[in-house]
Amino acid sequence: MKISVIGCGYLGAVHAASMAELGHDVIGIDVDPARIESLQQGIAPFHEPGFDALLQKNAPRLTFTTDMSAAGGATVHFVAVGTPQSADGSADMTYVNSAIEGLTPYLSEGDLVVGKSTVPVGTAERLSAKVTPTRALLMWNPEFLREGFAVEDTLSPDRLVYGVQEGKDGDTATAILDEVYAGILAKDTPRLVMNFATAELVKVAANSFLATKISFINAMAEIADVTGANVTQLADAIGYDTRIGRRFLNAGIGFGGGCLPKDIRGFVARAEELGVGEALSFLKDVDDINLRRRSRVVDVLAEELGDLSGKTIAVWGISFKPDSDDIRDSPALDIAESLARAGATVVSADPEGWKPAQDRIERAGLSASLTTTTDHRAAVTGADALVVATEWKVFQDEDPTTIGALMPGKLVVDGRNCLDSSSWKDAGFRYRGMGRA
Ligand code: UDX
Repeated sequence: MKISVIGCGYLGAVHAASMAELGHDVIGIDVDPARIESLQQGIAPFHEPGFDALLQKNAPRLTFTTDMSAAGGATVHFVAVGTPQSADGSADMTYVNSAIEGLTPYLSEGDLVVGKSTVPVGTAERLSAKVTPTRALLMWNPEFLREGFAVEDTLSPDRLVYGVQEGKDGDTATAILDEVYAGILAKDTPRLVMNFATAELVKVAANSFLATKISFINAMAEIADVTGANVTQLADAIGYDTRIGRRFLNAGIGFGGGCLPKDIRGFVARAEELGVGEALSFLKDVDDINLRRRSRVVDVLAEELGDLSGKTIAVWGISFKPDSDDIRDSPALDIAESLARAGATVVSADPEGWKPAQDRIERAGLSASLTTTTDHRAAVTGADALVVATEWKVFQDEDPTTIGALMPGKLVVDGRNCLDSSSWKDAGFRYRGMGRA
């Protein structure tokens, strides 16, 4: 089948390559010429394990362009553009609206437009009215991929969600998407068909639940800190209850990235618009707990070191999670910036995130006090304290004795509770975890 994918970010680019992997002829379209150039050459414009290999393997069935008219040759069109956070917290629909506007002239009767972007409930209904005059169909098929596992999550998802119009049009749309995803459905992947509003809500509800789970355990970490309890053991113990489950109960400096924070804020804004803001007022607490985690690290350092000005602090981690170069709303980078603002000299190390961070640090006017490196050992050399802010494996595997020999100050703040605390203590470090000593 001939497929177009509008928007070639983390979601769209991986989706395009994955559709080629399923055997389709795919054209990826994006407004950013540098991104398109890179993809066309088979080079991933961002760090995502397995993505370069997928691009190169499927090059014969994959083309990338900035020219929207190229969508004209396809019958299924995925819309995978971003919905960033607006100043008021709501989702900014500029890119979705312009993608649909740009695509509409090239739609033919019987084409299927498949929305994948995370959108406020009610969007599919609104866009359907724009697409219907072309006699094409629209459906919503939210994406649940995690960065770092994007390829795996696209080709072997936990479930497929189809949001469709009721009646014949919905059946036709379902049959077309089933054909596109035949290779995925053959693996017995659950496929759930529902109306537009439900499909749109599934995505934000899932992310809200995950965010709530993380903030719940971080709230427990706050309690653990004043009672001497150990939040990791607490999580292990409650996680054995299968109704609760252990996943997403890792306390630390909280969630970041391009989805969870903005999706919960966008959901709250939409609920308020709909007059049911009270139903989601708890998500504001989830957001507040999450943001408090970032200041907690600064407070712990101040407790241990006193005035931070003039201190040298190494921060391991810049990206919002390991195996990603994404620094959007990254707790690690926020903490490094706060420490620099408090007068410390900060060296942040990250295998991937150092590069995109350069621009942001410069724009924040912090280049003099906050520098970045890929070399995490160089970062700790001469430091008074080390903060572990992103749990890259290379940091977790590090030998505390080797690190201790490089640092005059033997203080480690484990922002992700990812280190073996006893081996760091044995190496002479004062260890401070998040909700565990
Ligand atoms: C998330 C959802 O998981 C995914 O389904 C959706 O499609 C997009 O948003 P992603 O942003 O890639 O994916 O990251 P995720 O793995 O969910 O982690 C989000 C943040 O939560 C990270 O900053 C991570 O460090 C943090 N986190 C995760 C915790 O602090 N504790 C945990 O136990 C789990």
